[in-house]
Amino acid sequence: MKLSVHLSDKSAPSADVLGIGVFDGGSDPAAGVERPVREAVKKAVSEKRFGGKDGETLVLESPVKTAEHLVLIGLGKPEKMTLQKARLAAARTLSHAKTLKRKSASVVLESFVGRDGDRAQTAGAVVEGLRLADYHFDLYKSKPSKKGAVETFTILAGSAEARSVQKAVRDAEIVMESLYFTRDLANEPPNVATSLEIARRTRAMAAKAGLTCRILGKKEITSLKMGGLLGVAQGSVYPPQFIILENKVTGAAAKEAPLVLVGKGITFDTGGISIKPAGNMDHMKFDMCGAAAVIGAMRAIALLKLNVKVVGITPVCENMVGSGAQRPGDIVKISNGKTVEVLNTDAEGRLILADALSYAERLKPRAMVDIATLTGACAVTFGDLASGLMSTDPDLAKRLRDIGDRTGERLWEMPLWDEYADWIKATYADIQNISKKSAGIITAGKFLQEFAGHTKAWAHLDVAGTAWNDGGPKPLSPIGATGMGVRLFVELAKSYAR
Ligand code: BES
Ligand code: ZN
Ligand code: ZN
Repeated sequence: MKLSVHLSDKSAPSADVLGIGVFDGGSDPAAGVERPVREAVKKAVSEKRFGGKDGETLVLESPVKTAEHLVLIGLGKPEKMTLQKARLAAARTLSHAKTLKRKSASVVLESFVGRDGDRAQTAGAVVEGLRLADYHFDLYKSKPSKKGAVETFTILAGSAEARSVQKAVRDAEIVMESLYFTRDLANEPPNVATSLEIARRTRAMAAKAGLTCRILGKKEITSLKMGGLLGVAQGSVYPPQFIILENKVTGAAAKEAPLVLVGKGITFDTGGISIKPAGNMDHMKFDMCGAAAVIGAMRAIALLKLNVKVVGITPVCENMVGSGAQRPGDIVKISNGKTVEVLNTDAEGRLILADALSYAERLKPRAMVDIATLTGACAVTFGDLASGLMSTDPDLAKRLRDIGDRTGERLWEMPLWDEYADWIKATYADIQNISKKSAGIITAGKFLQEFAGHTKAWAHLDVAGTAWNDGGPKPLSPIGATGMGVRLFVELAKSYAR
């Protein structure tokens, strides 16, 4: 789909479907809309066929030649308008155009700007909504799907603040291309997206995007004594890979401590010897969504040329069964010297992250955030409505929560109380990889905290329930990888940029 922005108050290009947001009680779409269209909206409202309530939609025949259908989208009260509602409204327009089997559509930007809204930010949200909704992954279908496709989409923006609107649209396109990179990588089947293939694609992407890319193979991982990563990887024919990406910065930013992002990259999680049940085990190809999010976010950060130092680290391997696989009872030594008793080989994410966090800690980060499809318990607790957040730093936690509220990647904080540390004290080693009691989400976070070491500002995101959509298509995500974390991390990096 070709997306463009029309930055003039006159002569809106024609489109088959025109989407207009309407606030509760009716509002005037104003800029860039022909008078008969405004009259049609007013008429629908005054005849009470449409009230502008949140979630309401009305499809009308268009009174003007420049459109065939009008789609009125209720947005609720103008003072309660959010960027997420703008994303959804744009996605809804697109979905109506597809249902009507039309090839072109447009939306009136002004109609989505709430009382305290920002035009440029709203334009970015519209781009996000459209791209999030329009994604499909059908690489392995012999015949392309017959579903309707919209070929051109225009944001009718009017001439006000043209420059900042245009920049917001361009930046959002960069972020969304990167989010597509993440979704593509995560949606690849586990026999394709092996550790080596992920390394290969990341290296190629990094060269194009202008990122520094260092990838450690099994030899270097061994010499760095990353016992957690080696232990998990030892059952697979594919060697572990340890990917380190860094953006290029200039001036004072080059001397600053980095923001470090760490992503869990299990290309497939069988559970290992503590094997998972067969039902829906294919879902465990999603276990590298954290790594994919970090890699995609790094791409966007580089292409947006954010002048803030960011390092992206992803340990990548496969958790397999086999005669070489690690056993329950094995003790491994993480690269920071701590020993771990592996009581359940299915709690493997924290083992590879332990090595990644230990590595990251040595970079003396200003802040360090990891993202992982870490516990089934998190998916059970929040469903797909929020990701778990745990942090040693209230400021970082708040920063992340605020950003998540804006991007529509909601986070909910869990405590890291000291008592939980006792629950993972091991009999034969320093620490064990499962809890002696309950609190699966928190004890997983508590385990990771042991390896965040001296990093003051560390946060952990458990995206087990949000990284993948397996419940049927949703307005902002088809079935499969959602790209959770990409927009969050880009905004996090921006929040540190000066
Ligand atoms: N990748 C899984 C987490 C997961 C499981 C996410 C199911 C979504 C759905 C992780 O490696 C895992 O298996 N965790 C175990 C930990 C347990 C053994 C302490 C879990 O959650 O069952
Ligand atoms: Zn597991
Ligand atoms: Zn896992």
